[in-house]
Amino acid sequence: MTTVLAIETSCDETAVAIVKNREVCSSVVSSQISVHQQYGGVVPEVASRQHVETINFCVEQALQDAQVEWEAIDGIAATAAPGLVGALLVGLTTAKTLAIVHQKPFVGIHHLEGHIYASYLSDPALQPPFLCLLVSGGHTSLIYVKDCGVYETLGETRDDAAGEAFDKVARLLNLGYPGGPVMDRLAQEGNPQAYPLPEGNVGLPGGGYHPYDSSFSGLKTAVLRLVQKLQQQGGLLPVKDIAASFQESVSRSLTKRAIACAIDYGLETIVIGGGVAANSGLRSHLAAAAATRNLRVLFPDLKFCTDNAAMIGCAAAEHLNRGHTSRLTLGVQSRLAITDVMQLY
Ligand code: KG4
Ligand code: ZN
Repeated sequence: MTTVLAIETSCDETAVAIVKNREVCSSVVSSQISVHQQYGGVVPEVASRQHVETINFCVEQALQDAQVEWEAIDGIAATAAPGLVGALLVGLTTAKTLAIVHQKPFVGIHHLEGHIYASYLSDPALQPPFLCLLVSGGHTSLIYVKDCGVYETLGETRDDAAGEAFDKVARLLNLGYPGGPVMDRLAQEGNPQAYPLPEGNVGLPGGGYHPYDSSFSGLKTAVLRLVQKLQQQGGLLPVKDIAASFQESVSRSLTKRAIACAIDYGLETIVIGGGVAANSGLRSHLAAAAATRNLRVLFPDLKFCTDNAAMIGCAAAEHLNRGHTSRLTLGVQSRLAITDVMQLY
């Protein structure tokens, strides 16, 4: 059994968890959302300062909740990339310092690998190969998971990520930040067929569409035009119907691509990860489509879809079990492809 203390500070959540292989002993998430809400989005410098103020309390709380002493910890992990550089630095420096003080191995983790590993927390028996549909605020990818650290990106967004599209449309509708959860809530009370919206297809030069890539900027513009048209007509904006139609379009688009990709590559299991994996529309579309194709879909627990440190700890335990550790000179990187994760070891 490998026990890890893991830290995640890549964006606007300060998170610390204690994980024993694929079992969560404690998971503390301190959200900064209320601080950033007044600015309408995450302000990087504000995020870094908040992490500095909160991180030590989160470490203490995670140890206390898990009832674990330092002697029982086998390694210290932190997200090293990708993310906001100043924010990442707070978590990484804390992890390195704890590793030096307590003489433990240190492991840097790729944030997206963490999102993939969130599914191992729901099903500890899960084994590669499988397909991961990773949908977060910054990424929309179809990743072929071959083994720990061995990934191939089969599909990506050409412009906005799915979560980013939710956030931008929510802003357009004056729903505040972050937009995903509130859009999801409103969509459940609206009519998904109210307004036909484009499905984010990426055209190919010879005609037809790219089977796995998506594009959400056109969809966002279509919603903008729809809102402008409805505003000109006067009356109250049918926000619930717009949210439901938008969610329907995104869910349909992502589901179609994930299913096609799994079938083409002969993968029987699809796991989803990232904040948008919490979306009710996407979950129901994907579950229904997979059932008709005899594919298995694995959804992480809602609390492990959005950023948390338990998923980072789970990935770190797997790397430690394979003898992968990081040098204390490892730096943070705002961008790092998932296919390059082994650069961290
Ligand atoms: O994975 P995550 O917490 O952070 C990143 O790594 O980006 O994802 C955050 C994104 C935000 O864009 C947020 O609006 C979206 O996930 N999100 C949702 C839902 N919950 C969070 N989008 C749609 N439906 C939701 N229920
Ligand atoms: Zn994330």
